[in-house]
Amino acid sequence: MDRYAVFGNPINHSKSPMIHGLFAKQTAQDLSYQAIEAPINGFTTAMNEFFAQGGKGCNITVPFKQEAFSFAQQLTPRAQLAGAVNTLVLTADGRVIGDNTDGFGLVYDLLQYTTLTNKRILLLGAGGAARGVIGPLLEQGVQELVIANRTDVKAQQLATLFNDKGDITACGFGALTGDFDLIINSTSASLSGLVPAISTALVNKNTICYDMMYKADATAFNLWAAEQGAELVIDGLGMLVGQAAESFKIWRGVIPSMPPVLEALRKTIK
Ligand code: ATR
Repeated sequence: MDRYAVFGNPINHSKSPMIHGLFAKQTAQDLSYQAIEAPINGFTTAMNEFFAQGGKGCNITVPFKQEAFSFAQQLTPRAQLAGAVNTLVLTADGRVIGDNTDGFGLVYDLLQYTTLTNKRILLLGAGGAARGVIGPLLEQGVQELVIANRTDVKAQQLATLFNDKGDITACGFGALTGDFDLIINSTSASLSGLVPAISTALVNKNTICYDMMYKADATAFNLWAAEQGAELVIDGLGMLVGQAAESFKIWRGVIPSMPPVLEALRKTIK
C-alpha cells in the first residue's frame, strides 16, 4: 500500500487524513495517509526518514512550507512563485519535486461562487498565505488585484514580486478606497478572533467576502463582512478540499470529486 502523510507542528487537528481517506475510498486507490508531527527543528530529518521508509508523497503545513521549498530537489513554476511548498512527490527516478496547490484550491473554490475574469479583487495580508495565491488569482484574468497589509511595505514587496504577472498594486489598510467585487482575507487575524482594520465602506451588497481560514462558527472576518451587508461570505474549507484534491491528482493521477468530501467535512467541524 502506498504511503502518504501530512507534516506540520502542531498537526493533531489536521483534516487532511480525513479528506485524503475519503478521496482514496471514492476513487478506489489503495493508499494510507497519516498526520505526522515533525519536531520544530527536525523537518529535514523527518522528510529523509519518510522517503527512506517508502513514502510516496506528502503535504506540508504550518510552519514547514518554506523548509519544504528548500528540501525539494526540483520545484514547479507555481511553487517557485509561491515561495513555499505544500506538496512533495517522489518521482519514479527518486527525485523529490515540490509543488504548491494552495492557490489552485482557492481559485477552484471561488469559481464555485463567482467568475474572476475582469473582477476587482482586494487581498488582505502579505504573508506566506497571500503569496501562495497571487499567481493563480492573476492567471484568472482579474481586472485588478490590490494587496493591502497592516505593514504596508510587505504588501509593496509582494506587488513588486508579481509585477509582470498582471495588474497588481499595494497599499496599507488606511489608503484603501473604491469598490471591490471580492475581498479575500489571507491574514492570520481570524486565528485570534480579530478583523483587519479596514473601512466598513469597502463592503456593500455587491461584495463577496472570503476568509481563507475556517472554524465551526463564522470567522471574525466573515461575521464582520456579513454585518456590513456583504452579498456572500465564504470560509476556507472549500479551499482546503481543493488544495488536497490537486495534491491527490499529482500523486495518483486521478481527480477526486470535491463536493461530497466538502459536505462530509463541513459536518465534522460543526
Ligand atoms: P501566513 O503564512 O499565514 O500568511 P505570516 O507570514 O505570519 O503568516 O503573515 C501573517 C499575515 O497576517 C501578515 O500579513 C500580518 O500582517 P503584518 O505583516 O502587518 O504582520 C497579518 N496579520 C496578522 N494579524 C493581524 C491583525 N490582527 N490585523 C491585520 N493583519 C494581521
